[in-house]
Amino acid sequence: MTQMSQTFRAASIAFAILLVSSAAWGQKSRPAGQPLPSGPADVENRVDSLLRLMTIEEKLGQLNQLSSVWDTVLHRSNASASGMQMLREGRVGSFLNIVGSEATASLQRIAVNETRLKIPLLFGLDVIHGYRTIYPIPLGEAASWDPELAEETARMAAGEAAAAGIHWTFAPMVDIARDPRWGRIAEGSGEDPFLGSAFAAARVRGFQGHLLDSKSLLLATAKHFAAYGGPEGGRDYNTVDMSERTLREMYLPPYRAAVRAGVGTLMSSFNEIGGVPSSASRHLLTDILRKEWQFDGFVVSDWNSVGEVETHGIASDRTSAGILGLTAGVDMDMMSLIYVDELRSALKDGRLKMAVVDEAVRRVLRIKFRMGLFEDPFRGASTVRERAVMMTQEHRALARRAASESFVLLKNENGVLPLTESTRSILVVGPLAESKDDPLGTWSARGEAADVVSIIEGLRRGAPSKTKVTYVRGCGVDDTVRSGIAEAARVAAAADVVIAVLGEARSMSGEAASRSEIGLPGVQEELLRALVATGKKTVVLLMNGRPLVIPWTAEHASAILELWHPGVEAGHAAADVVFGRINPSGKLPATFPRSVGQVPLYYNHKISGRPASEANSFTSKYLDVAWTPQFPFGFGLSYTSFAYSELTLSATVMRWSDSLVVGVKVRNTGKRRGEEVVQLYVRDHVGSVTRPVRELKGFRKIALDPGESKRVTFNIGRDDLAFWNGLMEHTAEPGQFSVYVGTNSHAELSAEFQLEE
Ligand code: BGC
Repeated sequence: MTQMSQTFRAASIAFAILLVSSAAWGQKSRPAGQPLPSGPADVENRVDSLLRLMTIEEKLGQLNQLSSVWDTVLHRSNASASGMQMLREGRVGSFLNIVGSEATASLQRIAVNETRLKIPLLFGLDVIHGYRTIYPIPLGEAASWDPELAEETARMAAGEAAAAGIHWTFAPMVDIARDPRWGRIAEGSGEDPFLGSAFAAARVRGFQGHLLDSKSLLLATAKHFAAYGGPEGGRDYNTVDMSERTLREMYLPPYRAAVRAGVGTLMSSFNEIGGVPSSASRHLLTDILRKEWQFDGFVVSDWNSVGEVETHGIASDRTSAGILGLTAGVDMDMMSLIYVDELRSALKDGRLKMAVVDEAVRRVLRIKFRMGLFEDPFRGASTVRERAVMMTQEHRALARRAASESFVLLKNENGVLPLTESTRSILVVGPLAESKDDPLGTWSARGEAADVVSIIEGLRRGAPSKTKVTYVRGCGVDDTVRSGIAEAARVAAAADVVIAVLGEARSMSGEAASRSEIGLPGVQEELLRALVATGKKTVVLLMNGRPLVIPWTAEHASAILELWHPGVEAGHAAADVVFGRINPSGKLPATFPRSVGQVPLYYNHKISGRPASEANSFTSKYLDVAWTPQFPFGFGLSYTSFAYSELTLSATVMRWSDSLVVGVKVRNTGKRRGEEVVQLYVRDHVGSVTRPVRELKGFRKIALDPGESKRVTFNIGRDDLAFWNGLMEHTAEPGQFSVYVGTNSHAELSAEFQLEE
């Protein structure tokens, strides 16, 4: 390059930087009153101007995401030094797992002061159910059937993380899961696409909101696209194979709902579907996501999932895996380093087109511009702000409410719960009662065990003043040692009531935490048997990250309260419910099977040609276990009771462009105020393809005083009846439908209508 052209190039870069940025780089934020780049045309112009200045390395750099621990994972020598070098050369577009306002700012300063084009970095982290204040695991929150609650916890989590310099969360996880052996069922909203979609949209609204440039919110990620929740055998990362119809009807709706709610990014999943790894699936990432759904954010791979395209066996080397991933629509490469290291050669030899790279870079830059990062790369994160927003009283109060709302009362024989003042002595038993770590659950970001109110602490503080609460451990979570069991039973004999806190350690669900047996681990059931054998009323508090198989417990415990992994306020929330200050109202977001052999077991199954029948052996069932679940989807009791009556339809014929109003009367027939989740299910009797026996199409949470009734109404439109028909068109078909309204997916109150063209 001649001296003159070099000077000209430098001058034009400086000029273009002025165009794309509107503030001097550094800690300064944009001048007051200057608008953020909200207009789409403005953003597109700025993206194009910047793109024109970028070298191949800088473009591939924007598509490269590094983790703080990348050196240990990839075993590169002197990796952190070369990571910093890559950053200075503009070869890193984003970091994950760098936390804290100081750490993020120090890297951001390098990006915006020392790199040639001064493009700001994006900092990502798994802020799944809280940053420092940890809320219930997502499956637990879904059991509240209160999407607004999840929106609120997501917003508060975003506020804490944003103050610490995080821009982007890899949440919500919206994978439908019908197999509780899969450990990551804990991170999602369970088995149902309708409930899952409601929570997906709510969490996107909470984390991200409508304006990407809010400094107290985060860019959200709907993950893991697609159908990561359907691995064979429930084994994490395993093959997924399902029909396009099942994929579209059961697994895709929550991702679609997240896109509709404006989610800025999606994460491509580890699994293959029907022979194509998702991270190389043009069908998913381009045809469905971009063309059908018009998604204009960007797609990040899962951790090394582009690299694993080679392991899956559809690419013979890393470069080919990278070409497949990028061409399919994975814009940013999390931690395989293939894009940044290998794709230059593919561009040179023509195996990859520059237009493909440009398009991916455009998508990443578009989000960075929309977030206002070019105006304010630090987004006001600071240690002062961190201190001000972290784990405030307000956040703790929300964590307590969220936890108690997520609890599900599975059994309450003779109204043993709530415990009253007449209970003079309570023996608390079980390994999870004293744990301050396990209530945090999977993915706990910056959550600290020291912040957690354990179950025993909460019960002690919350018990009536004259009630004595004692504790013996009994056994460990997955012990084989039985020595504490006899002692626990001996002490139990002297108590009025026994509370056994049983279940799973937090490491037993989440990523890479599938289990083949999903009963109580270790000797916990033996401990419970010994306690029940004393004849004392035995209340079981379950703490776990998935539906469990607990037939003995279901039959013999006096009461069972499902707590999931409830977060920092575990003990307070448990005491609120155990002692009756709060009436439980959660409902199961996933079926509890009777036996692992029944899995997958889900309420919205097909009928088959031989529906199970007691009267006929040659029907779809087992010889050794019932075909029905232990606790069905949508199930959950209350300290009061509700009666459903007067189901009405506004018409028995619904015309093609009409809608129908379904009404039902719900009455609190007990003695306490309580909340009930009223659920509406629909069945399409005859279709061009088979239809599920019922599908959730509406739910509403209402509060009723004793004796009070309310009329609850739902609207059903044609879209609610649509499905992927025999020609793979998404449409409703005329014919007969049933609606069922009630307290869980076995709701019996029903009415019929016809849809007419
Ligand atoms: C998980 C993702 C997560 C990513 C980054 C992966 O192993 O599957 O859900 O966002 O790591 O931590």
